Amino acid sequence: MRRITVMGTGYVGLVTGVCLSEIGHHVICLDIDQGKIHKLQQGISPIYEPGLEEMMVKNLENNRLSFTSCQKEALSDVEVIYLAVGTPQQNDGTADLTYLFKAVQDICSYTSGEVVVVVKSTVPVGTNEKIHKYLTTHASKLSKFNVVSNPEFLREGQAIHDSFYGDRIVIGSTCEEAARLLYEINESFNMPIIHTDCKSSEMIKYASNAFLATKISFINEISSICERVGADIEAVAYGMGQDSRIGSQFLQAGIGYGGSCFPKDTKALVQIAGDVKHKFELLESVIRVNNKQQLKLIEKARSRLTCFKERKVALLGLAFKPNTDDVRESAAIVLARKLAEEGARVIAYDPVAIEKTKAELGDWICYTTDIKECLDEAEVAFIATEWDEIKQLPLEVFVKMMKTPIIFDGRNCFSLQEVKKYEVDYYAIGRPPVLNLSIQVLVH
Ligand code: UDX
Repeated sequence: MRRITVMGTGYVGLVTGVCLSEIGHHVICLDIDQGKIHKLQQGISPIYEPGLEEMMVKNLENNRLSFTSCQKEALSDVEVIYLAVGTPQQNDGTADLTYLFKAVQDICSYTSGEVVVVVKSTVPVGTNEKIHKYLTTHASKLSKFNVVSNPEFLREGQAIHDSFYGDRIVIGSTCEEAARLLYEINESFNMPIIHTDCKSSEMIKYASNAFLATKISFINEISSICERVGADIEAVAYGMGQDSRIGSQFLQAGIGYGGSCFPKDTKALVQIAGDVKHKFELLESVIRVNNKQQLKLIEKARSRLTCFKERKVALLGLAFKPNTDDVRESAAIVLARKLAEEGARVIAYDPVAIEKTKAELGDWICYTTDIKECLDEAEVAFIATEWDEIKQLPLEVFVKMMKTPIIFDGRNCFSLQEVKKYEVDYYAIGRPPVLNLSIQVLVH
């Protein structure tokens, strides 16, 4: 059991702190946001992450987990400090390390004796080294310290699962003693542990996310070709994925990737490459393809409906993917904003992401947690997030509730065989449309 402090209680920091307490460590989670800390102390999670709140409450009650906004309380008597603060993207694509080095300054102010600093935040290659240099010159109270890279590979909506059943843990450190400590801390997660140097560890994180984003943009490009040659992207992706060298995951064509990581990390890696005079052309294309893909549905719809002005439009899904309330860089938000700009009367459904969407779009659109209300009298429906509640919705509900059952499915939620049984016009990604030409579009 180790005394651990986690700095930052965002998606990564909160999940990390809760899971470390779950495997027996004594964890204090520190955040400067007193409102958030107050909620956490009451056992209320500020984020929607399946299984997180129950695990948090359990460890609060057994006193292995606590929350505070007081640096002195969190940083004075501790063996290991995880840096899990945000490293948001700046306008030029580089990572903003302001919060990270503010946290490092707090360590210099409040921590004495021996400590291992674990960099969990996603940081540009070479940042661990910079933190080590900063502590060497500023941490006068530390008698001994090490800085270890330990990037996270957590998927939102599956973060608890990935913490306990992920594919690997990466530790970047040239100090054997510090690496051994991280091995000991993480052994209960029973995952393969890869030990390398700091820079390689930092690069593994960026390269992994960039490659996953590349897979997605690749399959989205193939889907666009499929539409023109008459192939079915679902069959193509399945046939590709059976090749163990390719793998079936992250080959789901759709309206592009979003979230707080892929968009940020791909741009950051392009900058990191640029800083060392390497033009990362492939990754620049991945980003361009993704930006184009997010507008794909609206382009399809425009060729069918000519304009959206005054039309009632149902938007199904707001979160950047299912099982999360996170709407950062969500393709659904891009779609909602574009439709509203073109005068559509948008009503959006999402089981959990409405509150966070309101912070982005306000009353530009309407919101409901009732799918039928969303579809009621709608002239067209867009599916932007593949929530189970949407995938399992019988298609006759679209026929019954909508004024004109015209569906643009950005996540290929329904099989073409199923769709053909109903009086709907159905357009998907990378697959031929299913048209029931009897449906006349109301001309405004
Ligand atoms: C990602 C990485 O998966 C994770 O390892 C890293 O630590 C953080 O970033 P996350 O962003 O939470 O996790 O979600 P993920 O499940 O990877 O999906 C990212 C985006 O890609 C979503 O918008 C999703 O809709 C999209 N996606 C994913 C596709 O469009 N097609 C796919 O096949 C998979």
